[in-house]
Amino acid sequence: MGVKDQMENIGIEEEKASDWGKSLPVPSVQELVRNDPHSVPEKYIQHHQDRPVVPDMASSSFDIPIIDFALLAKGDEHETRKLDLACKDWGFFQIINHGVAEEVLLKMKAAIAAFFGLPLEEKNKYAQAGNDFQGYGQQYVVSEEQKLDWCDMMFLITLPHEIRNLKYWPDTIPGFKDAVESYSKEALKVANEICSNISLLMGMDKDGLKRFYGKTKQAMRMNYYPPCSRPDLVLGINPHSDPDIITLLLQDDEVPGLQIRHKDKWILVKPIRNAIVVNVGDVLEILSNGVYKSVEHRAITNERKARISVATIKIPYDELEIGPMECTVDDDRPRTYRNIKYLDYVRKDWWEDTLSLKAGPWLAFYLWGAQMDFKTSSLGIFGIETKRRSGNKAADSLAKKGINGSNDLVFFMD
Ligand code: OGA
Ligand code: NI
Repeated sequence: MGVKDQMENIGIEEEKASDWGKSLPVPSVQELVRNDPHSVPEKYIQHHQDRPVVPDMASSSFDIPIIDFALLAKGDEHETRKLDLACKDWGFFQIINHGVAEEVLLKMKAAIAAFFGLPLEEKNKYAQAGNDFQGYGQQYVVSEEQKLDWCDMMFLITLPHEIRNLKYWPDTIPGFKDAVESYSKEALKVANEICSNISLLMGMDKDGLKRFYGKTKQAMRMNYYPPCSRPDLVLGINPHSDPDIITLLLQDDEVPGLQIRHKDKWILVKPIRNAIVVNVGDVLEILSNGVYKSVEHRAITNERKARISVATIKIPYDELEIGPMECTVDDDRPRTYRNIKYLDYVRKDWWEDTLSLKAGPWLAFYLWGAQMDFKTSSLGIFGIETKRRSGNKAADSLAKKGINGSNDLVFFMD
């Protein structure tokens, strides 16, 4: 049986050749809670081993690095070293003094709150349509088996202007477009500055990364996590790593929820007022030949308050071939990833990683079969040489995206 048949067998369509893939429609969690604040349907109840400990204060005894962006932009050596360590050891850091006006941040958050505050029929006017992954709904719902996120989201491509699809932009909310406009511009500046610094750290001039990836796109994933009567049973967003270059996450100042996996523990990222959380994405991990880590993260919920966040992602164009950059490969550090076209990477991430992570081992096994089939097919793009077997879930996650040797299946089956 070919991979296409197998995908169809498990309810996945192969049609959307030019896209990231679409998500199966799922009910709005916000509506679910509105209709019955105490109900937690089975589909959201995590398997025992995946349930969060709430509140997870035990593991928040240490904090992710905090970087002063103003110092970084001035080339301060200490801050630059901190950035290097943060990307290597944590994959995550928070930036303060980033120069984005408080007003811009507040307006962005208010715009998201206003959108999710609309009646369902209004929001549904912007629902993901057809094969599109943009719009209101949920991302990466691809199987009946997977555990769903306790979250509704809105996904928009925001930059460059010419590729925006304005039909998904709520035009009845005064200020929505302006808020996204201002924040997206600022977020781009910040992301570019961080990438310049990372280029220098990788041993290139400050434009090294930019020369490699060329033009990039920016997209925003706006998340709305309703309160949950049983936060100990559900996850706001299931564990994943981001398939991008870097992510800037603007999170609620008052309501924590983001957790990152660090040394096999889930660490709560405590919000700092007006700070922006930054994380290394899968693409940067690959370009840096694994020096910088795209770390697994998730969100937890709480009983009292809805939480809002927005992940602004910097992504390459579909056709870009990604692989370790020359400057990251030498005798001591051989190439640990094979080259792959970005779109193939994402689509593989989409159908394999998502399913195998979320749908349980039987499906992982099933997909492994599919992957092997896929691998030996004419495409031959997967099976990038063995990455690390470190026990780091992000590495496993990349493994499932075909970055690793197939023998790592053993790893997630055990
Ligand atoms: C994301 C994400 C975490 C959060 O949107 O990719 O990881 O805290 N969000 O909302
Ligand atoms: Ni994420």
